[in-house]
Amino acid sequence: MLRSLVRTVFNQNLIFKRFSSTANEYINVRIIDRDEKLVNAKAKIGSNMLDVVLDNKLDIDGFGACEGTLACSTCHVILEKENYKTLPEPVDEENDMLDLAYGLTPESRLACQIIVEPRMKDWLFVVPKVNENDSI
Ligand code: FES
Repeated sequence: MLRSLVRTVFNQNLIFKRFSSTANEYINVRIIDRDEKLVNAKAKIGSNMLDVVLDNKLDIDGFGACEGTLACSTCHVILEKENYKTLPEPVDEENDMLDLAYGLTPESRLACQIIVEPRMKDWLFVVPKVNENDSI
């Protein structure tokens, strides 16, 4: 009984340390904006890529219009193939919104659905250009 209690407390402490040790850690990610400008951005572990764009005050017109509620496709980004393959499958709602995205590619995702992990250091995210005649 005591051994079980000690093990539980020990495991909870490990989980807490694991969470708290990454809560304020940042990695660098690379973002190419609609003007094809490459930007190095600080990405907080555990945040999503929409927040990264907003936190870094990147001026991408109309990006993240629904504030991450999966009701638009304005946060469309394109990943490098080898990185794209390692992400969890998109949920049906994300796929539905991606179908509406301009410039959809096989490596397209919605930034608000990509959670930053340490392994994503220096990953490249491309924000596709929008046709001037399309509304965002
Ligand atoms: Fe609208 Fe990501 S911000 S779906």
